[in-house]
Amino acid sequence: MQCTFVLLCVLHDGSNISSVQQTSEFSFLRRPRRNRQSAAIRGMAVETHLSAQHLVFPLFLLDGSGIRSEIKSMPGIYRFSPDELLREVGECMELGITNFVVFPAVADALKDKTATFSYHSDNFYLKTAREIKKRFPECCLISDVAMDPYSSDGHDGLVENGEIVNDPTLPILARMSVAQAEAGFDMLGPSDMMDGRVGVMRRALDEAGFQKTGILSYTAKYASAFYGPFRDALDSAPKSGDKKTYQMNPANRREALIEAELDTLEGADMLMVKPALHYLDVIQLLKEKQPLPVAAYHVSGECAMLIAAAQNGWLDFDRAMPEALLSIRRAGADVILTYFAKEFARRFPKGV
Ligand code: PBG
Repeated sequence: MQCTFVLLCVLHDGSNISSVQQTSEFSFLRRPRRNRQSAAIRGMAVETHLSAQHLVFPLFLLDGSGIRSEIKSMPGIYRFSPDELLREVGECMELGITNFVVFPAVADALKDKTATFSYHSDNFYLKTAREIKKRFPECCLISDVAMDPYSSDGHDGLVENGEIVNDPTLPILARMSVAQAEAGFDMLGPSDMMDGRVGVMRRALDEAGFQKTGILSYTAKYASAFYGPFRDALDSAPKSGDKKTYQMNPANRREALIEAELDTLEGADMLMVKPALHYLDVIQLLKEKQPLPVAAYHVSGECAMLIAAAQNGWLDFDRAMPEALLSIRRAGADVILTYFAKEFARRFPKGV
């Protein structure tokens, strides 16, 4: 208390602060800079760690072979054909990345109203998952459960008379989930934001004998402008309207607690906040208020901003990238889904 008072006096009476510092006239009991004076001491005082084990690398898959096509709005991030994707997973495993979430880019001709291709036995997404788990059984492979990559309407749920209808969507998601579990995915990621979907999925998985398949629920997924590059990558933008009747309003925070409670009761194993950097307060809220591990999705637009600034020479990517990821960890995320996972693991093999 006393030292605070002294400090204020110095500042308020307008006296020459630099002369005070030079003569060391004041002796502060607390000097936070002592803990920052060397790399060794900073190392002991560090509060947050980040290494490859905390990261999930999102990968875009398209059908074909020998394809590695860069996404225009996310330079350095690619869509891979199955053979190239397997190679990419192998390279990442070498770097210590063990967790992957895969999204399919589906040809328009295979899309329909009810997303039937999502559980079709000939689906390249499911076949590739099987192949990945065969080649790399120790990895954690996470799926995307939502209708939008397969839907001719481009919405995450079924569209009837212009409305995204909740309950009729659920059996479709359940069927997709069982097909993904059969393909060997370790965890399923419902990103659709329909009410009740986690419970319906959990029951369908258990009935089909997939008790061990986990659910990483997109608990607080916001109707965000920051998904733009992702929708470019998958050509999955809604054909009409927006996603505001199912994704959350960016203005809302407490509502995330309702979603968290429901997902927990319905059997989710981990809860996700998405996007991440613009929703650090929501990450912190879920971390404080409930005991399940919290994941955060550092989404495509958030990555694109950083890449663009770095390309213009406005930001130093090597410093800004780990700082951005560390902020998400500091807010309370146990797990971060980020397109920078490979770059991070390559630059910081021991973590930060
Ligand atoms: C859709 C889905 C989206 C993302 C992941 N799953 C986009 C959307 O809701 O339109 C976005 C991820 C990103 O932007 O990186 N099921």
